[in-house]
Amino acid sequence: MAGNRTLTMIKPDAVRGGHIGAILAHINKAGFKIVALKMTHLTTAKAQEFYAVHSERPFYGELVEFMTSGPIIAAVLEKENAVVDFRKTIGATNPSEAEAGTIRALYAKNVGENAVHGSDSDENAAIEANFHFCGTEMF
Ligand code: RTP
Ligand code: MG
Repeated sequence: MAGNRTLTMIKPDAVRGGHIGAILAHINKAGFKIVALKMTHLTTAKAQEFYAVHSERPFYGELVEFMTSGPIIAAVLEKENAVVDFRKTIGATNPSEAEAGTIRALYAKNVGENAVHGSDSDENAAIEANFHFCGTEMF
């Protein structure tokens, strides 16, 4: 999937806020095709594994607690230059720094509860897609 796919999660805050439909519509309007989709509730072990790269950061415990606080949506998105373009579509990690009209500017509460995840490289996009989906669940 090199170059044209990325993995997103609609995080528990945005699911609780009733924003699943609006965020998926925003993603489609931005030119991404949804090629895998599920609603799931991460266990503590799975959230720790997903964000293992941040295990030494001071916010890791809070991040794992937040990501397991309710169900999420996981999706694989397809578009040319998907990883970079999707990071532009979601905006900066801290919604107060996110460009107007981005998903985080519209739906995120703060730097921790920031509505959506987007992969940060093609390599991680592939790892994260395989974390959430098996081959027969990606189209
Ligand atoms: P993500 O991985 O979820 O797409 O977010 P990101 O790349 O924009 O930000 P990253 O540095 O990878 O951080 C991962 C997630 O950890 C939470 N966080 N909290 N309290 C804090 O200072 C803080 N910093 C980061 C956020 O949920 C962030 O998206
Ligand atoms: Mg990240």
